[in-house]
Amino acid sequence: MRKKVIAGNWKMNNDLNESINLVSQIKLGLADYNKNEVIVCPSFTSLESVNAVIKNSVIKLGAQNLYYEDSGAYTGEISAKMLKSVGCEYVIIGHSERRTIFQEKDELINLKIKQALSEKLKVIFCIGETLEERENDKTFKVINSQLSLGLKDLSAIELNDIIIAYEPVWAIGTGKTATPQQAQEVHKYIRDYIRENFTDESAENLIIQYGGSVKPDNAAELLNQPDIDGALVGGACLKSDSFLSIIKSV
Ligand code: PGA
Repeated sequence: MRKKVIAGNWKMNNDLNESINLVSQIKLGLADYNKNEVIVCPSFTSLESVNAVIKNSVIKLGAQNLYYEDSGAYTGEISAKMLKSVGCEYVIIGHSERRTIFQEKDELINLKIKQALSEKLKVIFCIGETLEERENDKTFKVINSQLSLGLKDLSAIELNDIIIAYEPVWAIGTGKTATPQQAQEVHKYIRDYIRENFTDESAENLIIQYGGSVKPDNAAELLNQPDIDGALVGGACLKSDSFLSIIKSV
């Protein structure tokens, strides 16, 4: 059986002290917990300090972005190696806010995924359709294209280090959640895509998270769906009690 993986995407929230406080409370709340995997993804400036707090706990560290070159004249960017050096095990790539606000295209996302994997970082690869695309019955077409371009040239072995997060753009930060049936339908589509394009084993082992207004009161029902293996949580991960209650609802 696949384990569940709950990740908190802090986005551009929490300065250093706030980060340390939040992760300390989460750690305390998970003192006797070892059931599922928990990941926190703070800002770059808090990674190292958060990493010090989560030592000897079940919590893993993730970053929210990286650049695909090893090093060089890329002002303001951060490399996979830098993330590894402060304790990151994961990195989020292709989040819809990066795709829309920062105009990241699938080809760039593919380069970033390859770079992360080559530096032994695991990837949370985000995909999802906009409301307009859903209303025009383009959901599966969009998901198919994001998968085929984002995972281009990757092997089944490399897929072992990738989590896919299905995040319908219309549900992110809006309070609108996909119904468990809507989410399950797309998650199944993603797993079938992986089965067809990689291997049966890749499909069976693949962790597919749902993201988009996951809250304590809707988490259990979403996470009970057969193809929903976890959650990528935004707003509700910024308070320890709501994040802990999502984790423990599984
Ligand atoms: P949300 O964000 O939970 O605030 O909708 C989820 C995400 O963007 O990963």
